[in-house]
Amino acid sequence: MRVLVTGGAGFIGSNFVHLTRRTRPDAQVTVLDAMTYAGHEQSLTGTGATLVRGDVADADVVDRLVADADLVVHFAAESHNDNSLREPWPFVQTNVIGTYTLLEAVRRHDVRYHHISTDEVYGDLALDDPHRFTEATAYNPSSPYSSTKGASDLLVRAWVRSFGVRATLSNCSNNYGPRQHVEKFIPRQITTLLDGGRPRLYGDGMNVRDWIHVDDHNDAVWTIVERGEMGATYLIGADGEADNLTVVRTLLDLMGRPGDDFEHVTDRPGHDRRYAIDSTRLRTELGWTPRYGDFRAGLAATIDWYRDNEDWWRPAKAATEAGYAAAGETAV
Ligand code: NAD
Ligand code: DAU
Repeated sequence: MRVLVTGGAGFIGSNFVHLTRRTRPDAQVTVLDAMTYAGHEQSLTGTGATLVRGDVADADVVDRLVADADLVVHFAAESHNDNSLREPWPFVQTNVIGTYTLLEAVRRHDVRYHHISTDEVYGDLALDDPHRFTEATAYNPSSPYSSTKGASDLLVRAWVRSFGVRATLSNCSNNYGPRQHVEKFIPRQITTLLDGGRPRLYGDGMNVRDWIHVDDHNDAVWTIVERGEMGATYLIGADGEADNLTVVRTLLDLMGRPGDDFEHVTDRPGHDRRYAIDSTRLRTELGWTPRYGDFRAGLAATIDWYRDNEDWWRPAKAATEAGYAAAGETAV
């Protein structure tokens, strides 16, 4: 099978390529990646994948690559909420126009397509809300990032219904694991601690995210690609709800630092309070279950990865912190 993975030099996409190499060694993988600040060529070392540098919104390169594929898995995106609050345009261009461009190509060439999306399209929940997100939850995105992801999901649904495109969609919760950019919460705190600094917690630190190991996400994606109902959406989650303060305290403990050795900083504008996924459909209809049940052990392994791979993250660390400072992040 010839698989085109967009955004395969990023966090989840590169882990998808590694997982594919381990579990489906006969697959021929081509990665299409614009190699933005979030793309790392080293993340593909040892996978045997062919890397094509190009933009998912470039119709010529997309058409050529899609014509040679049996399956497209679309990870490429501008992915960071804080960046979308500073400069929304690249999110509209890549997440909306890029998805449109791919959809037109898979339509022309009748190629199977899987769309990677996020639970953030559903907005947020109150901390005490007994409900979780399901496939039936109404879209209610909060940020420029999540609204462009929601827009891209709606394009996919329309291309399925109007043009018969053979597509499935998945909306996943917060991923953690190796090769995640240092701008994101967990790698930011781990690398700050490795540098002897203090973790930085937005607002009161009570915001809840529903953590899943990146390999569980990608295993679910393969499950949906191979067994999912055409046109269907599946929510991917591993029952991993934790508030940010608890995550920071766990990291401090694992790294031998006192539990109060962190700073509260300026909150994110429009900061979603809580995400929580009900993945019953994926589990009951397709028989998927997550394998990484122990979040603390997963965090310990992630710390080890950043400790052992400083050459991977070091070049981005200072510029990322400078970006946060320039955006006005201050201790409160
Ligand atoms: P990432 O920022 O680490 O990687 C994105 C990759 O896409 C990078 O390699 C980047 O160079 C590439 N890219 C960006 N713009 C491009 C363009 N115009 N053309 C081609 N390539 C381009 O992101 P990630 O965290 O790995 O997220 C991957 C996907 O998963 C995204 O669609 C995101 O919305 C979704 N998602 C992420 C999470 C999470 O917790 N990180 C959870 C659910 C869904
Ligand atoms: O839910 C899925 C989404 O998860 C994905 O769609 C996004 O691509 C991904 O970036 C992630 O979005 P979040 O905004 O939840 O992730 P982030 O890592 O930016 O922040 C996680 C939580 O930690 C959030 O409540 C904000 C908070 N935070 C973040 C940073 C960077 C802090 O408290 N301090 C920080 O320094």
